[in-house]
Amino acid sequence: MKKDFISILDISKEELEGIIAEAEKLKRQKKAGVPHTFLAGMTLAMIFEKASTRTHISFEVGMNELGGHALFLNARDMQIWRGEEIRDTARAASRYVSAIMIRAYKHSTIEEFAKYATIPVINGLSDLEHPCQLLADILTMKEHFGSLSDLKVAWVGDGNNVCNSLILSTVLTGYDVTVATPKGYEPEEAFVKKARALGGKVTLLRKPEDAVKDADVIVTDTWISMGDDAEKDMRMKVFKEYTVDVPLLRRASPEARVLHCLPAHRGQEITDEVMEGGQSLVWDEAENRLHAQKALLVRLLRK
Ligand code: CP
Ligand code: NVA
Repeated sequence: MKKDFISILDISKEELEGIIAEAEKLKRQKKAGVPHTFLAGMTLAMIFEKASTRTHISFEVGMNELGGHALFLNARDMQIWRGEEIRDTARAASRYVSAIMIRAYKHSTIEEFAKYATIPVINGLSDLEHPCQLLADILTMKEHFGSLSDLKVAWVGDGNNVCNSLILSTVLTGYDVTVATPKGYEPEEAFVKKARALGGKVTLLRKPEDAVKDADVIVTDTWISMGDDAEKDMRMKVFKEYTVDVPLLRRASPEARVLHCLPAHRGQEITDEVMEGGQSLVWDEAENRLHAQKALLVRLLRK
């Protein structure tokens, strides 16, 4: 049966461990110049409804390094944008390519694709989740701290798609996540409930300084996600106390590290000083999109 990766909880704890171990191996092989063309002859279609830098580059380069090919498709240039049904696009595309990665406004678009596609479908970011980002973040935390289960992770800012996936990931990793958001910008309640019901340790707070107390990792993201632009003025006001700056970082563990999925808005959710400082892991995190997604592709596609 084909496997999809639409939510971070589409994989088990054991599968996550396997993907992270494979990613570490692929990273070593790449750095040592050892070829790893496990997906020769395969094609990944990448459909983008929204902009992307890292997801686009890392999937395309990753597929090339695995010996396969990646096909960039701007949704605006597809018949889908003129009203062709998702189920028809999904079935036709399944006859040409080996897997599909989609970045869509609505999570339900990706679910609909997966329902009708006969090949694996990967969520490259939706309004609800960013599971590929979490693979890279988990790899980055594991590389830096060695083990995950005893980490205290703090999220500061908008309870958005990346935050939702971070919350769900508590079920697979054992770290606990404390979230600080303004009222009305909390993560999806259903995801918080689901994570808790499955044993995840999730705490929701208001004040950033409470959330980061003793934290090993501080994670943040834009205040204005793609699709939220109409709320820009309001959001700039609501989030102004939610900047990850040096005084906030000082309240965390002295060994704390900072993650940001990027793109960053220096002076808004994170300061330039924190981005460029010694506690920032953002460039390793960005690089790890490549290794983690290659491991995912191998898991979904290797015969
Ligand atoms: N972090 C991330 O998904 O970046 P892009 O929007 O550039 O793909
Ligand atoms: N939360 C951001 C992440 C971008 C990678 C957005 O959805 O725009």
